[in-house]
Amino acid sequence: NSHLGHNSKTGKLFVIAHRGASGHAPENTMASFQKALDMGADYIELDVQMTRDGKLVVIHDPTVDRTTNGTGEVGSFFLNDLQQLDAGEWFSRKYRGQKIPTLEEVLSYFGEKIAFLIEIKNPNLYPTIVDELANVLGDRKHLNLIIQSFDFELLQKFSQLCPHFPLGLLVKYRVHGISNVQLRDWATVVTYINPNKALITKKLVKRIHHHRMYVFPYTVRNKKSIKGLIEANVDGIITDFPDFFKNDKEKR
Ligand code: G3P
Ligand code: CA
Repeated sequence: NSHLGHNSKTGKLFVIAHRGASGHAPENTMASFQKALDMGADYIELDVQMTRDGKLVVIHDPTVDRTTNGTGEVGSFFLNDLQQLDAGEWFSRKYRGQKIPTLEEVLSYFGEKIAFLIEIKNPNLYPTIVDELANVLGDRKHLNLIIQSFDFELLQKFSQLCPHFPLGLLVKYRVHGISNVQLRDWATVVTYINPNKALITKKLVKRIHHHRMYVFPYTVRNKKSIKGLIEANVDGIITDFPDFFKNDKEKR
């Protein structure tokens, strides 16, 4: 598995813009995705959920309350009503007029320009979300994207519907870490392990690489946490601030 470990073997460290460049522009909007692109990110991370009429939309929370001028559960809105909401002004007046995008709008506009890390969010609220995702991605097999979730069984289900795309398992912080049995099982389905950055040690990254998977920890919001992650040989870093890495380009 000498091909594993982009960072140690090739000097490449992928920069993944978390909900777009969400430190600079309202998360999960066209504005934050454009900023990610402008700042030289390699991937855009985004969260997908489903409207009442079954459309995939890009928003993180189960309700619209925090990131729009509306209230209510995402799944209680028809797409047309959801897109009347303002998804930018809560962040800054400058972003008034930003909308909650559909996944299709984002992929149509940015799909060829950058890679994507697509998270299936709150899947328990949307029984058909993997079917719809497989449907939307079915004729976009040329795009460079990874599908991720905290739910391993959901990823298994998705891979059966749509075996084309690589998958990533998000792993929350856990006191007892990650066992070799888990790594072996996960490696039969996923190509990326994306842990809370507090779980990262050099040894864990080595074990994940040994199981032929890559490591993209989340979420860097502070420059001080970067050095340790790079020294641990992670393959990419999920960050709200892709510009933290822009003077690092030659090292990548
Ligand atoms: O990509 C990792 C990260 O997005 C997972 O947490 O809550 O920001 O979706 P969250
Ligand atoms: Ca996410």
